[in-house]
Amino acid sequence: MFRSDSAPVTLVFTAERPNYCFEVRNKDDPSEFPERKLKLVREIYGAVLVWRGLLKCLLLSWNMCMFCVTFPVAEWVVVSCLIHRRLGQKPIWRHLVTDTILITGGAGFIGRYVARACLERGHKVRVLDSLIEQVHGDRTQADGLGPDVEVVVGDVRDEAALLRALKGATKVVHLAAEVGVGQSMYAVDRYVSVNDYGTAVLFQQLIDNPVKRVVVASSMSIYGEGLYKDPDGRIREDVVRTPRANESDPWDPLDEQGRSLIPVPTPEWKKPALASVYALSKYVQERLTLTLCPAYGMEGVALRLWNAYGPGQALSNPYTGVLAIFASRLHNGQPPMIFEDGQQRRDFVHVEDVAQAFVLALEHEKAPGGVYNVGSGQDRTVSEVAELLSQAMNRPMAPEIAGKARIGDIRHCIADISKIQQELSYQPGKDFAEGLAELAEWVAKQEAKDLVNEARRELEARGLVA
Ligand code: UD1
Repeated sequence: MFRSDSAPVTLVFTAERPNYCFEVRNKDDPSEFPERKLKLVREIYGAVLVWRGLLKCLLLSWNMCMFCVTFPVAEWVVVSCLIHRRLGQKPIWRHLVTDTILITGGAGFIGRYVARACLERGHKVRVLDSLIEQVHGDRTQADGLGPDVEVVVGDVRDEAALLRALKGATKVVHLAAEVGVGQSMYAVDRYVSVNDYGTAVLFQQLIDNPVKRVVVASSMSIYGEGLYKDPDGRIREDVVRTPRANESDPWDPLDEQGRSLIPVPTPEWKKPALASVYALSKYVQERLTLTLCPAYGMEGVALRLWNAYGPGQALSNPYTGVLAIFASRLHNGQPPMIFEDGQQRRDFVHVEDVAQAFVLALEHEKAPGGVYNVGSGQDRTVSEVAELLSQAMNRPMAPEIAGKARIGDIRHCIADISKIQQELSYQPGKDFAEGLAELAEWVAKQEAKDLVNEARRELEARGLVA
């Protein structure tokens, strides 16, 4: 029992219930404490109990809410970490950090897919594109980029346009280039100017306005002839194509004993053999990137692309890739025109897979300093793709075999994609038949001028088809 005598009344507590006033007595006359006062004290104590109960309930609900919020977050973090470990992509915390990515030549075929893939990853995207007529026709605005992409119309060689486009950019994808192998053999000044001087101007600006990373689109054409093996199984890295002396000579390269060489997948370590102005200009782009980036504290990556295809390729550009040219011909009721004998082999890679490779090159921690082949991992002859495409477009038509080669073209080059698969977890996902069906469906809704004969005449007039 405890008594408090300092108050005007005497309060009595028990040890078992120290918060409960057991009895209140008038100090002068302990027996006559007014019942009214006792009631008041009890009411106050009751109210305190109710408030304490309410506070406890509130605290419990708060804890339950916090549990409901934190559990899924924790679960998300654990699952993401597992995915990250499995796929080896950028660290989880970096998903929260977005980049502003400048894509030069971003209004073109590959650029639009790369832009979309970057937006899906949460990055901001800006495009610099001069909308050249050969690709974009008479359009003055970039099509197919969507409202979330900021577009700067301008040439990559124009310093002022480049500076505007670089403002606030943290990474660059350099796609701006002229892309026709055959055309590069006569439009030499244009190809060297756009591809190489353009890259030089870009780096001149990057020296003063550095970004974290630059990914450049190089090309498989820098390999020249791909890797071969001879009939004894020896790997041949040094195959060079020479023009045929007679019409009866084989198209395939031969070894010293006149035996046909067999194409095998070409890895990144194969020495370059620059067989066209285009190849030369692409190699310069690649080397400028890999030389200047580390010198100025930037990360550089080069992707060597094989033959990209898919909806959205410029159908009226007779210097575009072979699949788009064939699609345009078939769409206009013309047979595909095949150079050589149609048995030349390439790797046709869907443009969505190319975009996947660019995203990995932009984000993956292992990519800096690297050179990577980008293909589907499956090779096909040009005749085979002509046949499959005419089936997909439901236009059965025998191709025209030119029996002549474009100067600068290589015979075979097929992709070894194991490096990008192992180091960056690249996984080409598009089945070729599915990709062709999609392309056919898209082409059916397009208008396409067939300018292939004009383009061929341009080459023939200069002796570039033989
Ligand atoms: C293409 C790209 C190049 C890219 C490279 C990567 C174009 C114009 N070129 O070069 O930018 O870096 O892939 O692999 O997109 N052919 C025909 N008939 C035609 C057109 C072409 O038979 O009407 C043949 C060519 O002779 C060649 C093959 O198809 O043997 C491929 O030609 P093309 O699509 O121009 O590709 P690449 O020269 O491989």
